[in-house]
Amino acid sequence: MALKAGDEIGQYVLQARLGSGGFGSVWKAIRKGSLIEIPVAVKVSHEDLSSEEVGDRAVEQLLAEARAWVSASGHRNVVPVQDAGIWDGHLLLVSELMTEGSLRTHLNRVGAQPMPAVEAVRLTLGVLAGLEHLHGLGIVHRDLKPENILLQKGDPRITDFGIARFATRSTQTRGYSGTLQYMSPDAFENRVSLQMDLWAVGVMLFEMLAGFRPFDGANEAQLIRAILIDPVPTLPGEATAVLQPVVQRALEREVSRRFTSAEQFRRALEVAWLAPANSALRAAARSKSPAAAPPATPTATSAPAAGMGNQRPLAGTPPLPDAPVQAAAPPAKNSPAKWRTLLVLGAASLGTVFWVTGL
Ligand SMILES: Nc1ncnc2c1ncn2[C@@H]1O[C@H](COP(=O)(O)OP(=O)(O)OP(=O)(O)O)[C@@H](O)[C@H]1O
Ligand SMILES: [Mg+2]
Repeated sequence: MALKAGDEIGQYVLQARLGSGGFGSVWKAIRKGSLIEIPVAVKVSHEDLSSEEVGDRAVEQLLAEARAWVSASGHRNVVPVQDAGIWDGHLLLVSELMTEGSLRTHLNRVGAQPMPAVEAVRLTLGVLAGLEHLHGLGIVHRDLKPENILLQKGDPRITDFGIARFATRSTQTRGYSGTLQYMSPDAFENRVSLQMDLWAVGVMLFEMLAGFRPFDGANEAQLIRAILIDPVPTLPGEATAVLQPVVQRALEREVSRRFTSAEQFRRALEVAWLAPANSALRAAARSKSPAAAPPATPTATSAPAAGMGNQRPLAGTPPLPDAPVQAAAPPAKNSPAKWRTLLVLGAASLGTVFWVTGL
């Protein structure tokens, strides 16, 4: 559907296109006739839901996901949905406008270099708090990625859960849904569990701390191989060594060895961050904090900084906890036998994936 600024969709007047993803395009809009202009984000599905191709069952499922999202709204780390409806066959989802872009835009600004660890930890703790809320409601996101973490007043807020699975014909013909780079090995088998979300958070935490993703490849087949078979890389740099066990446990290929809940992951991250070995890093973060440093230009407008120590946290950064919290279980060890099993399982899964992808 070709939309342009000025178009009226239901009771919303479109102002500017914010972007487009697999499911729909997103517009900054205002409510028609409103005396106070409060901008909102309106997502309009690409698909005409009334078409035969989509089918009644998919529409019902989609509306159920939209209702679940509405029920999850109200948490500080979840983007609140304000309205949902069907317009000319297309699903409209109206949510609060997040003004600081997505974690992806923030990562792009930082460039291919590590984000300050204090900021990576703080953002991850926020995402995990939002996930705890979603999982508590029985909602598994299934497509967590930096594009679906939006920023508002420095807080990370999760968006697009459930809905993202309805994205594009390509994901449907692939036989599984999700964004490859952030998909867990179990997600390739369409096994849905909250641990698939925890894996995705592990990938994002790695990416923030390292400046690159743990799994990559020149093509889809290589990327899938990296996720299923290749050794999981370790975090570069001494500063992040203390966080390595946490990342490693989030990226356990076997679901039973991964964190069992977002809360367990969050506590382990807090404990690791507060570890004595990390005190120098914390002190460096404190000396760079807005309270100690000259007033910081909000990250949204600042140029990419050169290296960990030179970067400042996002505007509105709340302090990290400075008192120890209950320790989580230590990460599981990898035995050679486990790697052999994984290799076999990985190879088998790879065969399945190639089959569904038609590679
Ligand atoms: N509530 C919102 N406030 C501000 N910007 C938003 C909001 N929701 C989405 N956006 C922006 O709109 C753009 C498109 O988002 P969209 O969710 O359609 O794509 P995506 O996340 O890349 O892919 P996917 O369809 O898999 O979720 C992104 O740049 C996103 O940051
Ligand atoms: Mg999205």
